[in-house]
Amino acid sequence: MQNKGYFITFEGGDGTGKSTQLRLLSEYLSQKGVANTMTKEPGGTEVGQELRQLLVTGDKDKFDAVAECLLYYADRRVHLASKVWPLLEQGAWVLSDRFADSTVAYQYYGYDKKVPYETLADLYKIAVGDFKPDLTLIFDLDPEIGLARSFKKAEGMAVKETRHESRGLEFHKRLRQGFLEIAKKEPERCVVIDASKSIEEQHKEVVKIISERFGLS
Ligand code: TMP
Repeated sequence: MQNKGYFITFEGGDGTGKSTQLRLLSEYLSQKGVANTMTKEPGGTEVGQELRQLLVTGDKDKFDAVAECLLYYADRRVHLASKVWPLLEQGAWVLSDRFADSTVAYQYYGYDKKVPYETLADLYKIAVGDFKPDLTLIFDLDPEIGLARSFKKAEGMAVKETRHESRGLEFHKRLRQGFLEIAKKEPERCVVIDASKSIEEQHKEVVKIISERFGLS
């Protein structure tokens, strides 16, 4: 039995269904007796919740890409130091709805590379160091479908968390390609899941990947 838990990140555009898959995996792991925690970025901690409000609501132009990177990394640092790393040390598996690949996809590719890639790499080094996810699942879906779902979900929200959704289709097409680029660059860490498949089919695929990688039976 391993002493340390695994850090598994769920990535993809808005409305790809990754949060549903994260919840299903958490339930599956719990049934298998594997201690696990569901968390997210931004907003996995109390401070993070405040940063989340700033980041995902309101006028899309209130921060530029650099300011966004700094705020997402502030959230990430608090999240890692106060929650993720201690849980992993205790042997729990940590399932995170988004992590640093989202910053590359949204703030680098989404903004058409207006922030130098080196800036993101430097921030990663400062806030995260050499740590990285044991596995990253990237949910890939046509952004027209994802955005429509996201806006529909937001209809029921008092404060709408659609600041990034409102950047338009081209932004979201670029970040989708960005996620695929990330997967190509790091094939041992990243697995792309076709998010147009049914919820059940995707869940089966996720369980298969997890079982093969981490030896669950
Ligand atoms: P969520 O709706 O999946 O919880 O994510 C919040 C929004 O923040 C989503 O539109 C993606 C965006 N985001 C970034 O732009 N950069 C990041 O680093 C992260 C973690 C999220």
